[in-house]
Amino acid sequence: MSVTPNDFNYIRQLLLDRAAIVIEENKEYLVESRIGPVAKNEGYDSIEKLVQALRNNSNNGLHNKVVEALTTNETSFFRDVQPFETLKTLVLPEMLKERKTKRELNIWCGASSSGQEPYSIAMIIKENFPLLLDWKLNFIASDISTEMLNRCRSGEFSQLEVNRGLSAPLLIKYFEKDGLRWSIKKELREMVEFKQINLAETFPYLPKMDIIFMRNVLIYFDIEMKKKILKQLRSIMQPDSYLFLGAAETTLNLDESYARVDVKYSGCYRLKG
Ligand SMILES: C[S@@+](CC[C@H](N)C(=O)[O-])C[C@H]1O[C@@H](n2cnc3c(N)ncnc32)[C@H](O)[C@@H]1O
Repeated sequence: MSVTPNDFNYIRQLLLDRAAIVIEENKEYLVESRIGPVAKNEGYDSIEKLVQALRNNSNNGLHNKVVEALTTNETSFFRDVQPFETLKTLVLPEMLKERKTKRELNIWCGASSSGQEPYSIAMIIKENFPLLLDWKLNFIASDISTEMLNRCRSGEFSQLEVNRGLSAPLLIKYFEKDGLRWSIKKELREMVEFKQINLAETFPYLPKMDIIFMRNVLIYFDIEMKKKILKQLRSIMQPDSYLFLGAAETTLNLDESYARVDVKYSGCYRLKG
């Protein structure tokens, strides 16, 4: 199914308004390949008719389906390895010391996609820091996408997904085979609270965070939105907290309140003192 220039612009604006996601000018093919199937599923024989329905209809359901179809949900267990090593060898040991009187730790994974990232963090805690399980652990994972949050909550993964980044011992220890799929065990699922949060909007109430993973999502936003999000993040970060960004993301030239932690390839930042 092809998209007319007018409808392409309508969809680009919709993504910008609803999710702050920037779709570049020459990305008609992306819209055609992702929105064609939505049109078909919803009973429209062209993208033009789907867009007509979007224009005539203020009901959010259809709009949300289009937005979700155009988000990129690429993720994997222990993606990029090093950030998780830094979490294990530097950040969590330090937090265990710093918070030992309070015995409370707040973690937020702010673009959790289908769940591999928060569940990787949960496995690190279970495997290496069992003491934390007796603390008040507030572990929130969020995403804009209802479909992704449903996947996170189900904790189900395909063979292909568990083959990406997960070691055999962890797979055997924390997952159960369920037909063709693998289900993460309840003990891990229950560690994480999943919420819908649109990062482009004013954040809802969140406790002051000790550790934030906000990886591979700022890349989809324009400069002003990146600045707005980094500013909001600052307001919910403890002074000695850690922020992890994706490998292609930085605070440089966006927000000078952050300093990069000197650990190679970890994308780890702290607030300047
Ligand atoms: C590429 S995935 C990154 C997943 C994971 N953080 C990682 O690094 O593997 C990007 C995620 O950001 C989410 N996303 C896109 N726009 C968003 C927004 N405005 N608010 C919250 N999440 C958003 C998408 O739904 C998607 O699940």
